[in-house]
Amino acid sequence: MIRVDHAGELGAINIYKAQLLVSTYLYKDVVPELKEMLSHEKEHFETFDNLLKIRSIRSCYALWFWAVGGFVLGLFTALMGRNAIWVCTNAIETTVLHHLSWQLSFLGNHDAEAHDAVCSIKADEEAHQNMGASRGKNAFIYKPIFIVVSGATKIAIWLSTKL
Ligand SMILES: [Fe+2]
Ligand SMILES: [Fe+2]
Repeated sequence: MIRVDHAGELGAINIYKAQLLVSTYLYKDVVPELKEMLSHEKEHFETFDNLLKIRSIRSCYALWFWAVGGFVLGLFTALMGRNAIWVCTNAIETTVLHHLSWQLSFLGNHDAEAHDAVCSIKADEEAHQNMGASRGKNAFIYKPIFIVVSGATKIAIWLSTKL
């Protein structure tokens, strides 16, 4: 579980890096929010990275896939417009939060340290989801982006449990 979360945070970092790159040129107004969310994802990554090191657990074999995949996803959504950035954030965090609450219900009875680590990031992810949901317009043309991004997130989570 820690390995999967660790990989996911690396994906999130790269999504925001790509979106920031595009937004610096095209939509400067969203840059402060993206920078703030990127700083959270870096903290989350460190949390799980430390936990893996303390426990001598290897990281996911597909870390490069999360990094590259995240960057590509961030790039494409950002190029579709600032609204697509918010829809992407909302879609990812909705999927991630669902996954985190499932993890928390298991870890609560099995692993207090990992439970605390997951708990510590949950509030940030909820704030990201809220920001995505409130800033993103809910027009039907954005529904496919939501469906594709949340589907891709689910597949990536499943894949990293195998790798
Ligand atoms: Fe995160
Ligand atoms: Fe997040």
